[in-house]
Amino acid sequence: MNQAVLILIKPDGLKKSLTGNILTRLSETKLEIVAAKMVRVSDELAKSHYQHLKDKPFFPELIKYLKGELHDRLKVMALIYWGKDAIKRCRELAGATNPEEADPTSIRGSYGRITTKGLYENVIHVSSNEEDACREIKLWFDPPEIIVDLYPTKEEICRECRKQGWA
Ligand code: PPS
Repeated sequence: MNQAVLILIKPDGLKKSLTGNILTRLSETKLEIVAAKMVRVSDELAKSHYQHLKDKPFFPELIKYLKGELHDRLKVMALIYWGKDAIKRCRELAGATNPEEADPTSIRGSYGRITTKGLYENVIHVSSNEEDACREIKLWFDPPEIIVDLYPTKEEICRECRKQGWA
């Protein structure tokens, strides 16, 4: 079954210059990249992404982490991979969420760590299931940024909206 999955290369992955390495590992899946961009993560985006964790003690640190405030890199790389069993295959390569429990040959097992405050710095985010993937992809990407039609869209007419265009 063809699926879409959101992948984030988090600020620690960028700081450790792991982008090429991670993309090479993910290319083993032979899945198609249907969207990719660098994102400056706002407080609102970070909190929406991790909304289900808002009551966890590590939530404030998690938000700082995704925004890049712990690594002096105020950006993440966001990608959508698409193809057969995309979620399962990307999650296998990523390894367990807890980097200490991840297979040592997986991306998180190779490059992740747990901070002294108990936060997982696990280099990469991979959507957990199709429902999460749909919510996360709609949060991180607008329809024109994705080169296939993943989900139904609607036309929005916004007369008052201001947009930065090319000069
Ligand atoms: S849950 O419990 O299944 O709803 O949570 P999950 O979907 O696995 O996401 C947990 C995310 O929080 C990050 N994180 C931690 N989780 C647990 N314990 C600690 N200490 C912790 N620190 C950070 C974890 O990495 C998950 O984020 P992603 O981006 O998916 O890796």
